[in-house]
Amino acid sequence: KKIAVFASGNGSNFQAIIDVVQKGELKADIALLVCDKPGAFAIQRANAARIPTFSFSPKEFSSKEAYEKVITEQLTSYGVEFIVLAGYMRLLGPTLLGEYSGRIINIHPSLLPAFPGKDAIGQALEAKAQWTGVTIHYVDEGMDTGPIIVQERVRIDNKETRESLQQKIQKIEHKLYPSILQMLLMRGEVTNDKKARTN
Ligand code: GRF
Repeated sequence: KKIAVFASGNGSNFQAIIDVVQKGELKADIALLVCDKPGAFAIQRANAARIPTFSFSPKEFSSKEAYEKVITEQLTSYGVEFIVLAGYMRLLGPTLLGEYSGRIINIHPSLLPAFPGKDAIGQALEAKAQWTGVTIHYVDEGMDTGPIIVQERVRIDNKETRESLQQKIQKIEHKLYPSILQMLLMRGEVTNDKKARTN
């Protein structure tokens, strides 16, 4: 299966996926990194792993539709079948969703529907929650609202700091994302289309 990873920043989840592919534990071909921040560290990770990158600055386009058309052309030219969002800090629009709906997943550092959107870790600390976690879900047009695939809980201790919590969450993310990806690609269950899933 050819996949594309979308990232905006550090790309540690991207790296976790690269690592399992390189070890032969995940049968996927990371055909392309899509990045909306031309200086992001994720791009260096892609270069090191010899993965092609399509990076772009949204402000150089007249609209979301305009850059998503270009992304879609890139995805098509690389034969991408499945999209993995890994710290991609933008909502997807109808252009990408229309083409890949049911074949796009995201990882989010909270137990959705709690703490959607930006800085979910900060939100959980601010709320003095006792538990938070990680959610992997299909992507729809909303902000972290698509059908949930899996969640894992993380306890927030009394002495928890932002750094310690982020570390605990990322440790889980880096194991969970590759393993769920493996499961979805193996089963061929790359859709959230109800009809297809009950077959
Ligand atoms: C992760 O915590 C992920 O859950 C969220 O953004 C963060 C990306 O981190 N969507 P990284 O770029 O993979 O290190």
